[in-house]
Amino acid sequence: MSSASPRPRLEHQNTADIIEHNYFNENQRPAALEKHTALARDFINLHAAAGRRVVLVTSGGTTVPLERQTVRFIDNFSAGTRGATSAEYFLEKGYAVIFLHRQFSLLPYSRHYSHATDCFLDFLHEGPNGSVVANEEYREKMLKVLRQYTSAKRERLLLTLPFTTINDYLFVLRAVSQLMRPLGPSGLLYLAAAVSDFFVPPERMVEHKIQSTNAVDTPTERDAEAAAENEKGSEEEAFDNFDSSPSVPRSKRLIIDLDPVPKFLKNLVDGWAPEGMIVSFKLETDPAILVHKARYSLERYQHHLVIGNLLSTRKWEVVFVAPGQKDRWIRVPQHRRKKTASTVGTSVPVVGPSEDEKPLDPKDLPEGE
Ligand code: PMT
Repeated sequence: MSSASPRPRLEHQNTADIIEHNYFNENQRPAALEKHTALARDFINLHAAAGRRVVLVTSGGTTVPLERQTVRFIDNFSAGTRGATSAEYFLEKGYAVIFLHRQFSLLPYSRHYSHATDCFLDFLHEGPNGSVVANEEYREKMLKVLRQYTSAKRERLLLTLPFTTINDYLFVLRAVSQLMRPLGPSGLLYLAAAVSDFFVPPERMVEHKIQSTNAVDTPTERDAEAAAENEKGSEEEAFDNFDSSPSVPRSKRLIIDLDPVPKFLKNLVDGWAPEGMIVSFKLETDPAILVHKARYSLERYQHHLVIGNLLSTRKWEVVFVAPGQKDRWIRVPQHRRKKTASTVGTSVPVVGPSEDEKPLDPKDLPEGE
């Protein structure tokens, strides 16, 4: 082949590169991508010049829209507690923090007064001359949190970037981790967001709200359909061998067909930030498979640490799975569990590890946790 007609670039690349190329070419760039990238670039340059370590913390759940003009979406569980609290600890340890979070999920510092726990107005009362004053019993803690928050802001140590959909998240994750590449090992990627595993690819996504009735069909279409349905007989229409819900006609159900979201952790480790320090989280609900899945993830992606947690016990215990090391369980002692939600990434310092190598049984947790 002559030099004038180079081969298409993708022929030389491996499967992960091709998947990445296809995903980022076929899915729409988020409107805020350029703005977020510019903010992250300035932030990283500022702190790299000051010799400060930078961490990208991802937090909250990604959504999967079912319609382009989105009325309905599938959500991933995460309040943002882990990410927001971890970000506070990183700031305390001298890191500059890029906080890539689900819009309206918990944020560092303000999480202490979020709607998820108490209404912030309950912490306040009216003072003299129309002023607003913090209630006596909360004042000490509030002042501490306020000072930490204003100091982080003043020193420009915290950059918050919101996402909503899995697509927003992936585009910004790629852009920011690539910007962190020159930081080498002093760039830390701490991936606590709950990332969707399945999505509706763009070619299958409808523009408008999915309809639950056929009231918008023209009368002629509707009448013809009704007549055909009557002729067929409802039993015949409703059932086939693969039908999981034969009592409801297929035409009245919403059947969602999702594709897998590519596992971009591989691309992140190998290409976006290959020298960065990479910590991922593994969330499971079945205690019997947590450690196995965490170890599998570590072996598959070859990064530095997987922190495993179970949905039901995530506030009290996590397991650290690292290459060449024994699994290490870290637990909040029983007597501290009732007072404050706490783990790696919550407000009480983590104490541990405990000697016990097995996860807690969710049945053994205190009521209401
Ligand atoms: O916010 P809280 O309410 O405090 O809850 C915190 C938490 C439970 C959400 C958090 O501690 C946690 O476990 N986050 C990770 C959840 C998750 O996405 O787990 P996973 O097993 O689905 O994914 C494991 C890893 O694969 C993640 O690092 C993810 O970035 C990566 N992944 C996932 C999906 C995907 N399509 N591509 C990926 O690369």
